[in-house]
Amino acid sequence: MSATLPGLERVLFTEEQIDRRIREVAAEISRHYEGRVLKLIGVLKGSIFFLTALARYLEIPVKVDFLAISSFSNKSGAPGVVRIAKDLDEPIEGEDILLVEDIVDTGFTLRYLLQTLSGRAPNSLAVCTLLDRTSRRIVQVPVDYRCFELPDRFVVGFGLDHNQLYRNLGYIAVMKP
Ligand code: IMP
Ligand code: MG
Repeated sequence: MSATLPGLERVLFTEEQIDRRIREVAAEISRHYEGRVLKLIGVLKGSIFFLTALARYLEIPVKVDFLAISSFSNKSGAPGVVRIAKDLDEPIEGEDILLVEDIVDTGFTLRYLLQTLSGRAPNSLAVCTLLDRTSRRIVQVPVDYRCFELPDRFVVGFGLDHNQLYRNLGYIAVMKP
């Protein structure tokens, strides 16, 4: 299968591969949380496509909430400065929380989110990411569920953007350098 849009080098994961893998991970999650209510927390905007696909395959009662973050480099150009741009609508105290991410790269974003959310006393807090690029990890963060490990190339599609474009692609593609 070849990429259909200019700017894209090749398709890395097809729609079918993504769907099959999300179904597997959803089954794992449903087994683990059997008999409980799970709140999915999506990180806007990248994770909404993955979150909705995942939620459709979960066989446990599910609630959904969202937050948005902005991350930027500090003055010396080092990454890792993260803040909440839009907070959750509801408290999470006493709830079982699954943080749903599109991609974990350096780990800065996830570390910040886990610190912030764990301070709100959820019953449990776990992480599910569509993509994991462990080769670029700078801070160690726990990832409980991952769909795919990623090579060190910039990818777009299924929620992931480049300058806000390509999020709506059903597949995940490597950008041209
Ligand atoms: P980190 O784990 O804090 O480095 O940040 C991960 C964030 O960087 C993600 O939420 C994405 O917004 C962005 N990101 C990292 N790698 C990619 C990529 O390959 N494509 C699109 N966005 C990416
Ligand atoms: Mg993100």
